[in-house]
Amino acid sequence: MKIIMLGAPGAGKGTQAKMIAERYQIPHISTGDIFRANIKNGTQLGMEAKKYMDQGLLVPDELTVKILLDRVAQEDCKNGYVLDGFPRTIPQAEVLDKALAELGEAIDYAINVDVPDENIVRRMSGRRACLSCGATYHVEHIPPKQEGVCDNCGQALVLRDDDKPETVQNRLKVYHEQTQPLIDFYTAKGVLKTVDGTVDMKDVFEAIVSILK
Ligand code: AP5
Ligand code: MG
Ligand code: ZN
Repeated sequence: MKIIMLGAPGAGKGTQAKMIAERYQIPHISTGDIFRANIKNGTQLGMEAKKYMDQGLLVPDELTVKILLDRVAQEDCKNGYVLDGFPRTIPQAEVLDKALAELGEAIDYAINVDVPDENIVRRMSGRRACLSCGATYHVEHIPPKQEGVCDNCGQALVLRDDDKPETVQNRLKVYHEQTQPLIDFYTAKGVLKTVDGTVDMKDVFEAIVSILK
């Protein structure tokens, strides 16, 4: 099963993608997590990506597409995967589509997690992220067992550099301009499903599971 998560920054794509990955035993692939891991490790790719991410801009397609195509070609992706944060532009979607078509494959579901902009800024300021394993928490909704420490791996949790309110505004603008057109793209392919992302995360997940059945 090949699934794409669509939605504004902070809509809960990552939160839901992790739950889907666990339930269906498929890898969760987040281009944002891949970039953040590279930034943390000080790689060339990380330094390049950081320039864009810190401003709330998209990393150029040339950098992003190659990383994603390499990742989905790996052995553990044989039975499918859930993509979180990719594609984010029409050209990215077209490249993915073409690569899959060459293998006689296609995306099965594009899940659009719908959350209005007003809710987003509030959510982001409460988010805490683990840059080691990619786990995400929220100081009110999903607190870690011990404040500031990742439940999974024990590393310190941080407020992401791009979660400052002014950067969030920029990310929302970029989302509406460059990513939202993908909703029409996947509607035209007959695979788009929209869920209400404003309800409790468990209820969002239930809505997704009933679509995937
Ligand atoms: P990326 O890491 O993908 O960030 P994003 O799309 O901005 O999305 P987020 O990760 O911020 O939000 P999310 O939807 O995953 O929400 P989450 O589950 O954490 O990308 C970062 C940057 O990398 C981009 O800006 C760009 O520069 C670059 N990049 C990445 N991919 C790229 C690509 N393909 N092309 C070009 N550039 C790319 O939830 C948010 C918060 O809300 C959390 O605290 C969570 O606990 C909480 N929450 C979740 N669900 C609920 C709920 N139902 N109720 C209440 N709270 C909830
Ligand atoms: Mg995310
Ligand atoms: Zn961790």
